Amino acid sequence: MGFRTIIEPFRIHSVEPIRLTTAAQRRAALEDVGYNLFSLRAEDVLIDLLTDSGTGAMSRDQWAAVQHGDESYAGSPSWYRFLGAVQDLFPFPHVIPTHQGRAAEKILFSVIGGPGKVIPNNTHFDTTRANAEATGAVAVDLVISEGLEVSSLHPFKGNMDLGALEQTLRENAGNVPVVFVTITNNSGGGQPVSLENLRGTKELCEHYGVPLFLDACRFAENAWFIKEREQGQHDRAVPDIVREMASLADGMTMSAKKDGLANIGGWLAMRDGELARRCREVLILTEGFPTYGGLAGRDLEAIAQGLAEVVEEDYLRYRIRSTAYLGEALAEAGVPVIRPIGGHAVYIDARALLPQVPPLRYPGQSVAVALFETGGIRACEIGTVMFGLHPDGTESAAPLDLVRLAIPRRTYTQSHVDYVVEVCLDVAKRAEALGGYEIVEAPPTLRHFTARFRPLG
Ligand code: F0G
Repeated sequence: MGFRTIIEPFRIHSVEPIRLTTAAQRRAALEDVGYNLFSLRAEDVLIDLLTDSGTGAMSRDQWAAVQHGDESYAGSPSWYRFLGAVQDLFPFPHVIPTHQGRAAEKILFSVIGGPGKVIPNNTHFDTTRANAEATGAVAVDLVISEGLEVSSLHPFKGNMDLGALEQTLRENAGNVPVVFVTITNNSGGGQPVSLENLRGTKELCEHYGVPLFLDACRFAENAWFIKEREQGQHDRAVPDIVREMASLADGMTMSAKKDGLANIGGWLAMRDGELARRCREVLILTEGFPTYGGLAGRDLEAIAQGLAEVVEEDYLRYRIRSTAYLGEALAEAGVPVIRPIGGHAVYIDARALLPQVPPLRYPGQSVAVALFETGGIRACEIGTVMFGLHPDGTESAAPLDLVRLAIPRRTYTQSHVDYVVEVCLDVAKRAEALGGYEIVEAPPTLRHFTARFRPLG
C-alpha cells in the first residue's frame, strides 16, 4: 500500500498480562537459578524471546477447531483432518504424528542411525544432533561457508555446501542412512535454503542412493524467502513452493510448534513404506497409536487449521518484515547481528560484541544474562554453551557465539519490539564492562538446559 508501518494482520481478541519486575528482583532470580535462563520462572520474564517454539498465539479459528477435537483412540475425524492438511502441503504417503519434533527425530534415528553411521545436515539443531549422536552416529554440519560468516549478505545462507556433501557421501558410501536439510537453518541464523540448492542436494542424494529428509520446522518462512529472493519464484503461491520443496525430499521431520502455529505437536513423514512400518512400531511403544501419535484430537485440529493459516501471504509478509524490523534497528545502531535477518529470530553476534570474553568464557551467556537483568528480556544462547561440549567430554569453541532473540508468532506488538531494541542498545553500550562465566555444574549432554554458571569478575 506504500506505507512503511508494519500492520499486524490481526486484532487482539484475548490478552495475557505480563509482569514488570525491578532490576533487584531480576538479579535475585538470576542468582537463584545459577544464571541459567531456562531455569527462570516464566512469570519473572517480561518479554520472552527464549524460543518461537510452541509460544505463538493461536487464532480464533484454531480455538474453534479445538472444540471439534474428537478424542477417539483410533481413526478419529481429527486425525483425518490433520492428515489432509499435512498431505496438502507435503504429499508423503506415510504421516506419523508425534508430540513434537524431537520425538520424530528420535523415532527415525533409532531406526536408521547407529554406530558407524554419518548423518549430514546443513546444520543440525541441538535435539537433532543429540538424537543422532545418542544412537552412536556422527552428525556433520555442511552449511556453505557464507553461512558461517556473520556479515555475508548471501540470500540463502542456509544452503548446503554441495561439494562438501559430495565428499561426505563418497567417503562414507554405505554408511549415510539419510541426508537432512533444515529449513530454515535455525542454528545458523534462521537463514533460508533455496530451491536450487535443494535440487542440487537431491541430485547428489539420488546419485549416492541416500534418502533426503527435510527438517521442516519453519518451512513456510523458508518458502516466503524463496518467493522474495529466488529468481523466477516471485509470482508463485506459497503452498506451491512448499509442495515443490516436498517433492524434492523423501521424507521430513516436523515440529508443529513452529510453522504449525500450534502449542504442541509434530510429525514424521516419508515415502518408503517399509521404513514407515518400522517407525510406526517405535511410535506405538513410545508415543501412541498411529492415528494420534503423542497428541490429543484437539491438538491435531489446531495444527490442521494452523497449516492453512501459516501459508497466508499477509501473515508471512508481516512475520518476516517484523523480524527484520527488530534486526535492522539493532544493525543500524551498530549492534553486530547476523545478516540478512532470518525468519523467526534475530541473532546477536556476542563474540563480536564482547571481544574481551573468550568463547570458553561464554560471551553469549553473558549477553543473554545482561538482557534479562537490564530489561526482563529472555533470549537464548546459541553458541559454546549449547554446542561446545563433545560426546567424548572435551570442550571447544562453537563456530559462532550467538544470542537468539526468537519471536513468538503473532504474540508481541511493535511497541514490545521497540522496547526490546531499547534494552539491547543499553546492553550494547555497556558491552565493554560485561565479563564471562564459568560452568559450575552441568550434565554430559544438552547441558545448556540445566547447567549452572558463575560470573567471573
Ligand atoms: N529442528 C529444528 C530446526 C528446531 O528448531 C527444533 C526446535 C527441533 C528440530 C525440535 O523440535 O522442539 O518440537 O522437539 N527448536 C526449538 C527452538 C526448541 O527453540 O529453536 P521440538
